[in-house]
Amino acid sequence: MRCWFATSTFVTFVFFVLSFAAAILPVTDNFGPSKNPQNPLIDMDNSQNNPMAGDAGAPIVSDALSVQRDVSIFSDIVRGLTAHQILDRLEDKSQNTTVLAPLNSAMRSLPRKPWEDPDPRNNVEGAFFGDEGEKKAAANLERFVKAHIVPVSPFMENEKVQTLEGVTVWWTTENGITKLYPGGIEVKEVKSPVPNGQIWTLAGVVPYY
Ligand SMILES: *[C@@H]1O[C@H](CO)[C@@H](O)[C@H](O)[C@H]1NC(C)=O
Repeated sequence: MRCWFATSTFVTFVFFVLSFAAAILPVTDNFGPSKNPQNPLIDMDNSQNNPMAGDAGAPIVSDALSVQRDVSIFSDIVRGLTAHQILDRLEDKSQNTTVLAPLNSAMRSLPRKPWEDPDPRNNVEGAFFGDEGEKKAAANLERFVKAHIVPVSPFMENEKVQTLEGVTVWWTTENGITKLYPGGIEVKEVKSPVPNGQIWTLAGVVPYY
């Protein structure tokens, strides 16, 4: 008898606790961060840090470029361009692009700065100071980047394609080494492809004049 009484009290107590919990749960639920499907931290993780993320993150060439540390100098130049045309293209899911990204080592061993003119006669002292100078430097940087943007992907072997700068480039693989022409620049690596293109790393820079 006592036992039954104790059990019955306990059951009533549990029932009370459960109804109380049920009553307050819908309210507290709103405060749970993990229940929020729009959590910006989760979204950011997908699109910014993981170029191989599933469809939800929809990685694109611009993301893929910014996560590659061995081409960070080139990537920073692309992001810093005053004209947005190129970045817009890399962010455009409806246009495929192959980015020929010179490795940092190649950028460091350039005979001239990327904002200087391909024609050394135009790189006199002070050429890039002042408003006019800055405009020239910006234009040169843009040409430099455009020389490394191939407006197709996939970019097939022996296919001749004009870069955005207008130089016709193609590539072949011989004895296991892939080279880009003109120049015979070694292609070191094809980085993880994303739906709107690929990042290729180069041991040198694409010549333009
Ligand atoms: C763009 O690239 C994807 C591969 O990521 C390919 O399936 C598709 O055919 C390409 N589109 C064009 C127009 O080349």
